[in-house]
Amino acid sequence: MTKILLATEKPFAPAAVKGIQTICNEAGFELVLLEKYADQSDLVKAVSDADALIIRSDIVDKKVIDAGSKLKIVVRAGAGYDNVDLAAASAKGVVVMNTPGQNSNAVAELGIGMMIYLNRKGYNGAAGTELRGKSFGLHAYGNIGKIMGHIGKGLGMDIYAHDPFVDRIIIENDGVRCQEDVTELYKKCQYVAVNLPATDKTKGFINFDLLSLMPKGATLVNTARKEIIDEAGLLKMFEERPDFRYITDVAPDCKDTIAEKYEGRYFWTPKKMGAQTAEANINAGLAAARQIVGFIKDGDSTFKVN
Ligand code: 3PG
Repeated sequence: MTKILLATEKPFAPAAVKGIQTICNEAGFELVLLEKYADQSDLVKAVSDADALIIRSDIVDKKVIDAGSKLKIVVRAGAGYDNVDLAAASAKGVVVMNTPGQNSNAVAELGIGMMIYLNRKGYNGAAGTELRGKSFGLHAYGNIGKIMGHIGKGLGMDIYAHDPFVDRIIIENDGVRCQEDVTELYKKCQYVAVNLPATDKTKGFINFDLLSLMPKGATLVNTARKEIIDEAGLLKMFEERPDFRYITDVAPDCKDTIAEKYEGRYFWTPKKMGAQTAEANINAGLAAARQIVGFIKDGDSTFKVN
């Protein structure tokens, strides 16, 4: 029987697991769960007899790929697939897919929620600030950037976006000001939300030179990946710009230094939780299961990334 392994160190909501189970049952596949596992060796062991693997930010390295002797497909239930060794998968003929857009709303809502939380001083009763009338830059106008812009507009913010991969017309049709030069985005916006994938080109891209262009009240919001921020530049910004604040769903390696020296100017979640809503889990989890069924039964390779 075709075996699907759902390996989630950070488990999906029960309703999502139930939905995945139903899709697998209807296809005549067996679903095996590996949730909240303690060690990478647990995944290596569990994948050994799986035909397909559904993961979140779980690390699928060469060891996992090699251990999956029957493995045909890995679906990252989410957007970013920097946790999967694509070269190792391709070398073994394993197809890798993601489920773009399925958890974007949850991530966008968290980003805006964290902005309000820090502006209101963690709801401690002290006077805070508002988002209305502030400039908000979207560094990348993909699924998440688009929703953040929409929510920001609803809050009365002035929205700007930079994305060389999205046509200017598409951005402007949403009532968003398109900035073709990334430096212009940072010069104009008090708030910038970065929604870039972690690639060789983007790692360390958000550096001091870029951040220091931001006007007074500069606040960087990162719900993407910690690797896209140049941490030396981040620390320099904290030191040289007392107005600078950093909000993130992916705590930096230098978090202890920031916490020690810059109280009230940062917020990060204790564990990445942008996509951690029942709705996002259902959207991404069920899409992953359907993609596996479509691939195994009909050879449908839509959303293949390798
Ligand atoms: C993604 O790339 O889809 C997000 O970072 C969500 O990651 P998660 O599934 O580990 O919460």
